[in-house]
Amino acid sequence: MLNRSLAGHEGAAAAAGQQAPHEAGQSGFAADLARALATRPRSISPKYFYDARGSQLFDRICELPEYYPTRTELAILSDHADEIARQMGPRAEIVEFGAGSCVKVGLLLDAMDRPARYLPIDISGQHLAASAAQLRAQYPELDVQPVVADYTRRLLLPAPVSGDGQRVGFFPGSTIGNFTPAEALHFLQVAGQVLRGGALLLGADLIKDPAALHAAYNDAQGVTAAFNLNLLARANRELGADFVPEQFAHSAFYNAPLQRIEMHLVSRCRQQVKLAGQSHGFEEGDTLHTENSYKFTIEGLRALAARAGFRPGPVWTDPRRMFSLHWLHAPA
Ligand code: AVI
Repeated sequence: MLNRSLAGHEGAAAAAGQQAPHEAGQSGFAADLARALATRPRSISPKYFYDARGSQLFDRICELPEYYPTRTELAILSDHADEIARQMGPRAEIVEFGAGSCVKVGLLLDAMDRPARYLPIDISGQHLAASAAQLRAQYPELDVQPVVADYTRRLLLPAPVSGDGQRVGFFPGSTIGNFTPAEALHFLQVAGQVLRGGALLLGADLIKDPAALHAAYNDAQGVTAAFNLNLLARANRELGADFVPEQFAHSAFYNAPLQRIEMHLVSRCRQQVKLAGQSHGFEEGDTLHTENSYKFTIEGLRALAARAGFRPGPVWTDPRRMFSLHWLHAPA
């Protein structure tokens, strides 16, 4: 299981709800896709990638040779686990934003001094139950308390246990990069409130050679293309739309001035698509913008965190400076 994106795009989608996956929420998908098709430029939140098929494809992406973020972050976590555990201190509790990867949090738990509690937060109860069960089996001593909630909104968490150590948020995977800059700031502000007096351990992908970025989102096996195109297949399955996925092409490129990978679905021909009784025309080359994945400089990420009230602490990276893991002290 890997941390899934909750993020979305700017504009209407930002206001309308990339704050939550509502992944089961078919009506949200229907309304957002109808709006996306009727608006120019066409853009939809990447949260709709993650149905069962999309989540499987994302797990495969994380294993691809070209997709360096997952394995690089894991290597950073394992290389610096002791140092990170020292920052956490004894009896700390981990609040994970997204049900997350049991592998990643396991690296922290293994290194920590008597972890007190693990609170994974996810909008999907099913996903949470699965990761909670896995963690309980692996760490029978650990108090695992799943919280079904939308972590980009105001959050209510169980009160810290008196006598326990600090509360540490964990947001790996550079999922923060799937938010717009305004959403990322908002997320950090919400996180700062629930982590008061504690800290946030945040994974952020770094700006690098555009060729490496390009390869990561244009893998040779076509898994990322299948992940992108699954959005159309999902619309056909769940909403009765009549997309012909073969008539759309996966397009992913690095937009250097905006410091982000953009993913689009590009119409290969002039065509009409029906959704909920409405016909939508595509010219050859028209696109549906499906995802942004922002890349950061270490300083840029620290400045963003500081704007949300965090005090930036140590940063760990891999020897090639592909990915970064930030210790950010939460507001007091
Ligand atoms: C979940 N998120 C951090 C991934 C990313 O790299 O932005 C989603 C993804 N999209 C295409 N490949 C992976």
